[in-house]
Amino acid sequence: MPVPPAPPVPIIIDCDPGHDDALAIMLAAGDPAVDLLAITTVAGNQTLAKTTLNARRVCTVAGIAGVPVAAGCDRPLVQPLDVADDVHGASGLDGPRFPEPTVGVAPEHAVDLIHRILREHPEPVTLVPTAPLTNIALLLTRYPEDAARIREIVLMGGSTERGNRNPAAEFNILSDPEAADIVFRSGVPLTMCGLNVTHQALATPEVLARFTGLGTELGQICADLLTYFASTYRELWGFPDPPLHDPVAVARVIDPGIVRCVEANVVVELRGRYTRGATVVDLHRRTGRPVNARVATTLDADRFWDRVVTAVCALGRRAERIGVRPAEGP
Ligand code: RIB
Ligand code: CA
Repeated sequence: MPVPPAPPVPIIIDCDPGHDDALAIMLAAGDPAVDLLAITTVAGNQTLAKTTLNARRVCTVAGIAGVPVAAGCDRPLVQPLDVADDVHGASGLDGPRFPEPTVGVAPEHAVDLIHRILREHPEPVTLVPTAPLTNIALLLTRYPEDAARIREIVLMGGSTERGNRNPAAEFNILSDPEAADIVFRSGVPLTMCGLNVTHQALATPEVLARFTGLGTELGQICADLLTYFASTYRELWGFPDPPLHDPVAVARVIDPGIVRCVEANVVVELRGRYTRGATVVDLHRRTGRPVNARVATTLDADRFWDRVVTAVCALGRRAERIGVRPAEGP
């Protein structure tokens, strides 16, 4: 007797598109294992205006309809905003040309939209932050009662090893260390997908060929996004192929077997002169600090890329069936 598939896991993505955020949105919208209830945006890779426009652009070209997009915080809690235009370009989504978005922006602030969904949804919701944690920290501070309505926070951020924005700190955590500290101390069930695991999600030429091989407009847009992302990763860090960070967090929700985790204590350094924003991960229980997170350690890359490509394939074919306007010409 075949086992019926589990019901889709309700999720909200909080993101800063961003090339890898774009693929994370597509994976969440295209894979039947999750039910994407909302997309919220925050300043990070680019300004809030640009990350929100980019989220709308992604929804437009991918034919993602009926999923509210709400803008959140336009700067970190304490420090000034420091965008990653060196990685994602002036638009935050450099590479392909996008048509004017047909998807609007919700009138509510992202934090209020998340709060309303958590209150109204019939079951606890998984939050998938793939950006600085400003919105999530504000939610937990302004609406502390919401913690009980959050099934889990599965975030892309931090690292068990080195950083990327600097030798000690990963971009999402370093962009708002105070926000990250609030989230890691919140007591909400939390899974951290850090650079140590997302660097296993390399978009090789074989992966790009799978996207172009889909023969859809959306497949080509993904290949163009990854081609641009590869150029900056090669220039800045000498990566032959770019790591696609954010979809790893979504993949963990879709199929936990794709991303193996261990339990550990994670704290965020706030005061280190050279280490502010570092995630200090006690993998060997040496500090005596209590476990507060599942920490991702290994990725089944083949199963990961299968899910990502399959989701983009499904979205792309549906978009062409319903006549989504193609990207602007050259
Ligand atoms: O360090 C990688 C993270 O920073 C990803 O979420 C990427 O989109 C950037 O926001
Ligand atoms: Ca991101």
